[in-house]
Amino acid sequence: MLKIAVCVSGGGTNLQAIIDGIESGKISDTRIVLVFSNNPNAYALERAKKAGIPAVCKSPKNYPARDDFNKDFLETLKSAEPDLVVLAGCMVVIPKEIVRAFPNRIINIHPALIPSFCGQGYYGLHVHEKVLERGARVTGATVHFVDEGTDTGPIILQKAVMVEQDDTPEILQKRVMEQAEWKIMPKAIDLIAHGKVRVEDHKVIIDGYDPQSI
Ligand code: GRF
Repeated sequence: MLKIAVCVSGGGTNLQAIIDGIESGKISDTRIVLVFSNNPNAYALERAKKAGIPAVCKSPKNYPARDDFNKDFLETLKSAEPDLVVLAGCMVVIPKEIVRAFPNRIINIHPALIPSFCGQGYYGLHVHEKVLERGARVTGATVHFVDEGTDTGPIILQKAVMVEQDDTPEILQKRVMEQAEWKIMPKAIDLIAHGKVRVEDHKVIIDGYDPQSI
């Protein structure tokens, strides 16, 4: 049984995709042991409550220094004893202490095809704004392991999404979520739960990888 801790900051639709995936059996042998939010107003907390999943909220604003928050964040994660930490719309920059505590055991969803439209400043709606500004015809989403850089960790799964000519950032964000994020995140967790994912030379190898099944 893969125990996962899911870190969120906002609406929590990716969290919902994971909860639904576990319920429907698309993700098997997996249990969510903790939902962690840095934002007390995150609707994701409501989703966790409805699903009966233990959830905690700790806001950096309530700590004298960022380091104090980081320490508590790490301790909170550790005490849930997860096998995998899942960043599902988590707007917190993960401190290196946490990355080191969970080597190749943290995954993130990024709403573009890494290495395009990623790195510092590329988060949330900004990513889609940049895609439209550049006039890209294709975008998508990426699930990757988290290392100490920004969006630089080994790529696990990606899925492409077409950009339409009259897209707004909001419309594009929704399409990327529906067609890519909510599919590849549950899939990546299921693959990890079944021991099919390993990292070699900064690259991910998936046993029996079938791009058509994504
Ligand atoms: C998603 O687009 C995710 O890729 C990005 O933030 C958004 C979060 O959405 N990092 P939600 O909270 O899962 O609904």
